[in-house]
Amino acid sequence: MTRIAVVEGDGIGREVVPVAAAALQVLRPEWEQLPVELGLERWRRTGTALDEADLEVLRSSDAVLFGAVSSAPNGEYPSVVLALRRALGLYANIRPVLGGGADLVVVRENSEGLYAGRERIEADRACTERVITRAATERIARLACRLAAGRRHLTIGHKANVLAADRFFLGIARGVAAAEGVPVDDAFIDALCLDVLRRPGRYDVILVENMFGDILSDVAAFHVGGLGLLPSANLGERHTLFEPVHGSAPDIAGRGIANPTAALRSAAMLLDHLGDTGAAERLNIAIEEVMARGLRTPDLGGTASTLEFGDAVLAALEKRG
Ligand code: IPM
Ligand code: MN
Repeated sequence: MTRIAVVEGDGIGREVVPVAAAALQVLRPEWEQLPVELGLERWRRTGTALDEADLEVLRSSDAVLFGAVSSAPNGEYPSVVLALRRALGLYANIRPVLGGGADLVVVRENSEGLYAGRERIEADRACTERVITRAATERIARLACRLAAGRRHLTIGHKANVLAADRFFLGIARGVAAAEGVPVDDAFIDALCLDVLRRPGRYDVILVENMFGDILSDVAAFHVGGLGLLPSANLGERHTLFEPVHGSAPDIAGRGIANPTAALRSAAMLLDHLGDTGAAERLNIAIEEVMARGLRTPDLGGTASTLEFGDAVLAALEKRG
């Protein structure tokens, strides 16, 4: 029996995940969905944002569908998103950007860089170490090469002109690409952010370390109309978690206007990853159909609510049987 842990989280996560979970329910009614409450609301209610029992549920499921979690108002608990990536060993963050002249995939190293957790604040000085290891770089580069082998080519984004850690990253990633026979080029991350906007068609798979990937994926979202549309897959050796690239968006939360497309597409990535490529395709086609009819949430200039858009996608799915 396939078990999917479903984490709505906070803010608009509570609005968009139910839509995506309903789509999964239509496509795979026999899959068990296990709701797990995590994040700020949970912390307010119980004093805990995430605990070992939650992790057990997530680890024992076949995949996690995740919404978004707000960070603690004054750092009362560490980032739940980062804790999950660490606890589940989710070393790769795959962020496809498809539309508006772009057909590219950002492959973001998800475990180290500035997110390695090596930081300290002193009286007059704060320091966050950017850690790049050979093992993590080889692992993510191999995954990026596997992806690129089935597509066109690989670009490595970096800042090797000034940072030693990036010369290290670039050297290792290039070596992996050469060994795997994948066509590869590279670019400075700052110039790459601009060029991805100008000439998206030049890019296919883009490999970057953690924070560069965080920034580059938001930049690339420009081509598809913003963060309301970008899905992601967090992959590890044993666990997987699928989540919109956007956060909990407290500014629009509770108004029922969030775009559920990123969450729906994350559900499609989940289906695809669990081997149901047919259902993934049906879901993506249903989203396209609804968009083609001109139905839009306010982030894309329309007036549809989250539920109106979601219901239209569900209706399109059901109609096609
Ligand atoms: C993302 C988010 C996260 C990140 C935050 C919420 C920790 O911005 O998934 O892109 O920085 O990775
Ligand atoms: Mn981000």
